[in-house]
Amino acid sequence: MRFSRVALAASLQLPAALARGDEQRPLGPSLGAGGPFAAGAGGKKPNIVFVLTDDQDLHMQSLDYLPLIKKHLIDQGTLYKRHYCTTAICCPARVSLWTGKLAHNTNVTDVNPPYGGYPKFVSQGLNSAYLPLWLQEAGYDTYYTGKLFNAHTVENYNAPFPAGWNGSDFLLDPYTYMYLNASFQRNREAPVSYEGQHSVDVLAQKALGFLDEAARGDRPFFLGIAPVAPHSNVQASLLTNHTFDNPDDINKIVGAFTPPIPAERHKHLFADARVPRTPNFNPEAATGANWVRRLRRQSAENVAFNDHFYRQRLRTLQSVDELVAAVVDRLAERGLLDSTYVFYTTDNGYHIGQHRLQPGKECGFEEDINVPLIVRGPGVPRGEVAEVVTAHVDLAPTILSLAGGKSRADFDGEPIPLSREELDRAATGRRHHEHVTVEFWGFAASEGKLFRDDEARLVLNNNYKALRVIGSEYNLYYAVWCNNEHELYDLKTDPYQLDNLLHSTATPPATLLGVPLAKVLARLDALLLVLKSCKGATCVRPWQALHPAGDVQNLRDALSARFDAFYEQQQPKVRFDRCELGYILDAEGPQFEADGLVYRHGLRWSEWV
Ligand SMILES: *[C@@H]1O[C@H](CO)[C@@H](O)[C@H](O)[C@H]1NC(C)=O
Ligand SMILES: *[C@@H]1O[C@H](CO)[C@@H](O)[C@H](O)[C@H]1NC(C)=O
Ligand SMILES: *[C@@H]1O[C@H](CO)[C@@H](O)[C@H](O)[C@H]1NC(C)=O
Ligand SMILES: *[C@@H]1O[C@H](CO)[C@@H](O)[C@H](O)[C@H]1NC(C)=O
Repeated sequence: MRFSRVALAASLQLPAALARGDEQRPLGPSLGAGGPFAAGAGGKKPNIVFVLTDDQDLHMQSLDYLPLIKKHLIDQGTLYKRHYCTTAICCPARVSLWTGKLAHNTNVTDVNPPYGGYPKFVSQGLNSAYLPLWLQEAGYDTYYTGKLFNAHTVENYNAPFPAGWNGSDFLLDPYTYMYLNASFQRNREAPVSYEGQHSVDVLAQKALGFLDEAARGDRPFFLGIAPVAPHSNVQASLLTNHTFDNPDDINKIVGAFTPPIPAERHKHLFADARVPRTPNFNPEAATGANWVRRLRRQSAENVAFNDHFYRQRLRTLQSVDELVAAVVDRLAERGLLDSTYVFYTTDNGYHIGQHRLQPGKECGFEEDINVPLIVRGPGVPRGEVAEVVTAHVDLAPTILSLAGGKSRADFDGEPIPLSREELDRAATGRRHHEHVTVEFWGFAASEGKLFRDDEARLVLNNNYKALRVIGSEYNLYYAVWCNNEHELYDLKTDPYQLDNLLHSTATPPATLLGVPLAKVLARLDALLLVLKSCKGATCVRPWQALHPAGDVQNLRDALSARFDAFYEQQQPKVRFDRCELGYILDAEGPQFEADGLVYRHGLRWSEWV
C-alpha cells in the first residue's frame, strides 16, 4: 500500500535528535554568492523548483507520513533539521522568505492590512525588490503557482500584479483556503473558480504545465509551487463580509477555520494516527509565559477533536506528496532532474495541543518555528541530515547564489551550505551563523474548536522578540514579551520547553554553561537587542556589531569574563513600553543602533558608525 506509514522518525531519530543538540559542532560560514554551484555542471545554470507548503509541522512528524517525499527528496537530498522561520505566520514568513529580509526590515508583520498582507508588501516597495525579479536579472525564467501572500484577493490581484513572473497562477483570497472551491488567477487573466475540485490537485496540474513551459525555454528556470495544504479550511463567504481591520472581525474569521479537507481518495487514511504524546502535549502543569501560561488543560473531548484535526492535516498532505512525485518524475522525463535543485519547506510550523495550545501557530516554541527544509540537487549529499542552523531569510540568498546573481547588502541571511564541502566547513571550521532571530507582532489565534465558554479565540498581546542560539555546548531559546515577561529554555536539558527558567515561580539553576545564569542572560539580552533591529550583515554577524575587533564570534566567546561589565552593567536591556498590533518603533524600548554599546571603543553605536 502506497501510503503505509514510513518509519522515518526511527531512521532520523526525530524529534529526539532534533531537540537534543548534543552532536552539535561549531558551525562555519558557507560561501558567499557565486559558490561552486553558481554555474551548474557544464556551465549551464541550474533550474530551481521550490515547493512551499502552508503551516506544515516538523515536530508532529508530518514527514513520517509522506513516503514519496521521503523517496524523492529526503533520500535523494539533505534534510536541514535546524531550519527556522523567523516570524511564525504565513504572510510575514513568506515575505521574509522571498525578500531575504527579517520582518522588522520589511515591516510586513501581519497577514492583513494595515500591518501586513499583499497591499503592505506593495506599499513597502517590495514588489520591485524580491527574488523573482533578481532571478530574471540573473537570466532566469520564473514561474509560480499557488498562494503568494495573504490579502492578495479577487479584488486587488491586478492592482498591481505581482512583479517578476514569466508565468503565474495564484490562489486568491477569500478562496485561498477553500479546499473545494479555490480561485486561481493566471497571468493577466481574470480569476477562475474551481468549485468541487481539490485545490492541491488543481495546483499540481498547473505546476506541471508551467514545468513543461519552462522546459521549452532557452533560459534556466525557477518554479515556485505553493499548495495550501495542510492549512485549515476557511469558508470564503465568512471572509467576504469582514474587513480585517478590527479584532472582532478577525475573531469571527478565525472562528470559521475548520480542519483541512483531504481529497476523496485520501480521506480514509491514518485512522489511528494521533498527535504525538510528547511531554509537552497537554501537560499537567502550565508552561510558557504571558497568555500561554494561563491556558487550561484540554478535556478528553477537546483532545479527541484535535487528533481528528491532526489526521485531516496528514490526509491533505498526501496530495502534496503525490504532487512532489509527479514534479520529480516530470523533471526526469525531460532530462532535467540532474540539473535542478528541488527545495521543499513551509512558511511556518504548527502546534496542536503542545503547551495546552489549540491548533495554530504564531508562537515561539519549536513546533512553530523549527520547520522542514529539504534540498536535493547537484552536489547536495543524499540521505543526509544537516545540523547547520538555517533560517528562511537564508533562502533568497541561497537561491540567488545558485543562480549566479549578485548578492545583496540588505540580505538579513546568508547562503545555506549545500555541498558536502560547504557542510563540512560549516560543521568544523569557519562559522555559519549559530543564531536565529525570532519576532512576532499582533495576535495569536486558536484555529480549532473551542470547548470552554471562557476560552479566547484570539489574544492580542502576542508580541515578542526572541532568539535561538545553538552551538556545540548550548541550545537556548530566549524571549522578551511586550508585557516584559521573559522566557529562557535550555533545550539541552529541556527539549520540550517545559521549564521557563525565568518565570517568577521558577528556581533557575545557579549556573548555565559553567557560569552564573545572570552572565549568560546578559549576553543573550545584548544579542537580542542587536538582532531585533539589525539590518543586513549585522543580522548575520551580530557579535561583530558588539565587538568590531572581531574577537567574539559566538556566545561562547562572549562569555569571557573580561566582557562581564560590558554586558552586565553597560548594555541597555531589551524591553517594551507597550503592546502594539504592529511594528511601532516607540513601543519597542531601546534600539541597538541608538542605544547599544560597542565593546572596546566604549562608544555609542551612533558614534561608532
Ligand atoms: C521572462 O521575463 C523576462 C523579464 O521580462 C524576459 O527577459 C524573458 O525573455 C522572459 N522569458 C520568456 C521565455 O518569455
Ligand atoms: C465558489 O466560488 C465562487 C467565486 O469564485 C462563488 O461565486 C461561489 O459561490 C463559491 N461556491 C461555494 C459553494 O462557496
Ligand atoms: C454577507 O453579506 C451579504 C450582503 O450583505 C449577505 O447577503 C450574506 O448573507 C452575508 N453572508 C454571511 C455568511 O454573513
Ligand atoms: C510599520 O508600518 C506601520 C503601518 O503602516 C507603521 O505605523 C509603522 O510606523 C511602521 N514601522 C516602522 C518601524 O517603520
